[in-house]
Order: sequence, then structure tokens, then C-alpha cells
Amino acid sequence: MACACFAFSSVSMLQSCEDNIDENYNFPNDNEDDSEQNQLIIDISQSPHTNLNNINGTSYLGSNVIDSQGLLLVKSSGTKIKAYSRRCTHSSYIVNAYNNQGFAVCSSGHGGSFNLNGNVAAGPPSSSLRSYATSLDGNILTISK
Ligand code: FES
Repeated sequence: MACACFAFSSVSMLQSCEDNIDENYNFPNDNEDDSEQNQLIIDISQSPHTNLNNINGTSYLGSNVIDSQGLLLVKSSGTKIKAYSRRCTHSSYIVNAYNNQGFAVCSSGHGGSFNLNGNVAAGPPSSSLRSYATSLDGNILTISK
């Protein structure tokens, strides 16, 4: 009888958890990602990424399958878009989107910022932002980890 009660209790717990799942929830980034969850595919002809059609144009993403703190994107040449983690290398706060001067300022208030190459522009971070592999085929940007 004890086993029957335990089994009933487990089923109830599972049911309860399933009830809390919102099947209509949309994650902040509605970009396509492949089934292996190790690539992110973005169409840079679409908003909000159209700045990436210009050299030194930038864009950014929130949490996604590549990086839980999001990505900074920079068009570094006619055929290359770089992708950096938004995880600050000082104490892991989120780095804000690039400003009009080309600096991505850490949200911590510690004073850290990074340039368009992902390198430290102002302390206290001592190392560059993590970069991810990218490929650009026409308007289709693929970011891989
Ligand atoms: S966490 Fe970014 S400067 Fe401190």
C-alpha cells in the first residue's frame, strides 16, 4: 500500500510541474537555432540587426543557446561579423550594447568597457570578451559555440 501511495504522490508532483509550463512563452530572442542547440542563425536583413550591413555596425542579443548572458555583434569587414559574449570578464555582470562611440559598457557600475574588437577599453576587466565562431553567407549569420 505504501508503494501505491508513493506512486500516486509522484504522479501528482509531475502533473503539478507540467501545469506550470507556459507553452506560449516566447523567449527574448526568436532567432532560429538548430536542433543541436550549438548554433544560432540570424538574418541580418531583418530588424533589429540591419546595422550589421555597415562596417562597424553593431547589434546585440539577449540570452540564447550560444551564451546565457547574450551576445554583442560587430560587422568588422565586408564579409565578417564578430560575436562576443556579454558576460563581463571582471565579475560576470552583463555588458550593455555598444554605444554610439563604439564602446560596450559593463552594467555593473565598476567602470569597465570594451571596444569593437572585444578588448578592454577601460578597467577593471583584465581580459577581452569571449568570442564565438561566426560565418556570414549573404544576409545569414551563423554563430557557433
Ligand atoms: S563586472 Fe564588469 S566591470 Fe566589474
